Amino acid sequence: MKMGKDKKDANDGKMGVGDRFQKETKYTPESLRGHSLDWSHRTPSFKNHESPIAIISLPEPEITGGPNLWTVLNTRRSRRTYDAERTIKLELLSVLLWATQGVTSVYGDTFFRTAPSAGGLYPVETYLNVRLVDGLEPGIYHFRPQNFDLEFLKKGDYSGELAEAALGQAMVMNAQVTFVWSAVVERSKWKYGQRAYRYIYLDAGHIAQNLYLAGEALGLGVCAIGALFDEQVNMLIGVDGISETVIYMASVGWPKRKTGLDL
Ligand SMILES: Cc1cc2nc3c(=O)[nH]c(=O)nc-3n(C[C@H](O)[C@H](O)[C@H](O)COP(=O)(O)O)c2cc1C
Repeated sequence: MKMGKDKKDANDGKMGVGDRFQKETKYTPESLRGHSLDWSHRTPSFKNHESPIAIISLPEPEITGGPNLWTVLNTRRSRRTYDAERTIKLELLSVLLWATQGVTSVYGDTFFRTAPSAGGLYPVETYLNVRLVDGLEPGIYHFRPQNFDLEFLKKGDYSGELAEAALGQAMVMNAQVTFVWSAVVERSKWKYGQRAYRYIYLDAGHIAQNLYLAGEALGLGVCAIGALFDEQVNMLIGVDGISETVIYMASVGWPKRKTGLDL
């Protein structure tokens, strides 16, 4: 097959940063030889903000009933058009948060969750841009899985700013809530070095898929968002973009189209 000119020339025939990353973070028997862990550098898997506006306890998630897994897998789609006026009950948001990062088992100092995580290190943090959720003021929130509550960080409707930061994707404007996932890189790096980035992205994928499936089961529409201006989102959630940085987002709302494609 003839290679497209643009593709061939994209890196002037050289390896780009992504190519080098993939190459340089490969495990080989040699690279692992003599590898040991410095447990003194283990970073806690939880983040607390110093002075949130408020802490909001979440209702116990109602996780019985609903459609079966096979139906949900069969009907799940990315849904991007939402009924902008209708609110989401806090009870539903609670189920979504539980599905993405809820603690389901505690062993020693590891809080195992609904989604798997490389090494049980849980580098991914969840922030929410709340637009229309019953019982929550619009604003930016941070989810604490260990307490199953929300830290209220910033008051106001940031949907416009966040949509702009998502390359102008309008679904964020109409979404009742948008999940913003960041990574506290050191939580994985102390163990995996540069390979940690691979695992961080994989962790986020698991979390996002849980959101898709839980949303589908509840009749809510979810759309993953990888296209974003990193620094704009980092500013909005108040992270430095180095030690902690945004990696992924997903909008959630009442879907206008419940079946078929919603492009
Ligand atoms: C890593 C990733 C990033 C994505 N980013 C976006 C995005 O920025 N905007 C968007 O509209 N859809 C985004 N999507 C959704 C895909 O377009 C969608 O999954 C794909 O078209 C397949 O459709 P389906 O999810 O309905 O099966 C993303 C999906 C993934 C997995």
